[in-house]
Amino acid sequence: LITRIVNGRIWKDGSILEKDIILEDEKIVGIVRKGQPTQVDRVLDAEGALILPGLIDAHTHLRDSRIAYKEDFVSGTSAAVAGGFTLVLDMPNTDPPITSPERLSERMSSAEKRILCDVGFYAMPLDLDHVEALAEKGCVGYKIFTHKSFEDKNFFEEEKIEELLKAVGKTGKTLSIHAEDPSKIGFLGEKYSAIEHARAHNVEAEVSMIERVLRLSRKHFTKIRFCHITTAKGLQMLVEEKKDSLNYFVEVTPAHLTLDESILSECDKICLVEPPIREKGNVIFLRKMFWEGTIDVVGTDHAPHTLEEKLSDKPLAGFPGLETTVPILFTLAKKGFIPFSKLIESLTTNPAKIFNLRGYGTIREGNIANLTLIKFVPEYRIDSSKFFSKAKFTPFEGYKVETAVTKTIIRGETVYERGAGIVGEKRGKVVRT
Ligand code: NCD
Ligand code: ZN
Repeated sequence: LITRIVNGRIWKDGSILEKDIILEDEKIVGIVRKGQPTQVDRVLDAEGALILPGLIDAHTHLRDSRIAYKEDFVSGTSAAVAGGFTLVLDMPNTDPPITSPERLSERMSSAEKRILCDVGFYAMPLDLDHVEALAEKGCVGYKIFTHKSFEDKNFFEEEKIEELLKAVGKTGKTLSIHAEDPSKIGFLGEKYSAIEHARAHNVEAEVSMIERVLRLSRKHFTKIRFCHITTAKGLQMLVEEKKDSLNYFVEVTPAHLTLDESILSECDKICLVEPPIREKGNVIFLRKMFWEGTIDVVGTDHAPHTLEEKLSDKPLAGFPGLETTVPILFTLAKKGFIPFSKLIESLTTNPAKIFNLRGYGTIREGNIANLTLIKFVPEYRIDSSKFFSKAKFTPFEGYKVETAVTKTIIRGETVYERGAGIVGEKRGKVVRT
């Protein structure tokens, strides 16, 4: 089946082409001049949209399994395509966590046929003996949380981190790290607000763990992606380190690029996240480094919980992000606060390279026909009641935005359309690297 996408503007390698895209079944087969005659079976009208390579989210918590009440594969990947994401990389802090090749395989087969977009899976290698077998099963990378224990094991001590760096280095895959030093995190009682939580999860906690990981990793050749960096001080260390090594990658989230601590008293528990929303100077520095090219990845950190869990005395950290990232960040880019082209790269080519996602990230002959169509539209407001995610709340409630996803295409077929919502069949596939 040959499809020609007309009336679009194509984002290709940093420029915008006024051309048409030809798809054959699930693949991109060519880019042709407007009006150039070709044999086609059907025409898809992009209606003036900017056509991006299908967006990739390298930081999604799809949940499912025993915590499916927060989010499941169907609701999470529906939120993904509604937000313009065509491939999400799923975090392993599920219940049970994805620590062994058996659990990874089980999660992969449970996702099969229930996902609307493509999904890759991280593993959490609590047991270092599993690192290689997890790679063989096709995990997209490894993720550790330095501030928390899982099944009574943690990655806090230097020797443990170093052994892990060695083991992961042999696989060639990327180690993703939530960097917070638990010995620096302040005590939180039985009841706390977002402001108290932010005070406990202080700047030093992030800085200390970044310093430790950098120091331990210099003699290894392991690719490391620092998740959701929030502090100017920590980012400055990474900026310096990146001058001498290509092994380090920096991720930031839409929330930490947009919000500062002045919102915490009002937004309170809804905005509570780890690491927390910081003082404004950090936000400004993150944006500045985005312009300078230090930010490699924007990850949504889509972390759904129930509203009850969020509003309880001990509120859970995180909030959904898949459906707000495009409107919030492309509006921010339109206003000139973050660089438009680097924003696109951080959601497409960069994650594709860092995680070795072949066939993804670029509009190019031979690649998978995953595409995201976006448009600048008249101002509208973020409305969480319309989310496909089960988590119907956001720190961005009521925010005015000027960009929308108009269509999401997975493997050559439209699966989301602005106005119509989710359309067609589930076309997602499990991605093994
Ligand atoms: C994440 C979650 O809910 O899974 N929450 C968050 O605040 N970012 C876990 C985590 O990264 O700590
Ligand atoms: Zn995290």
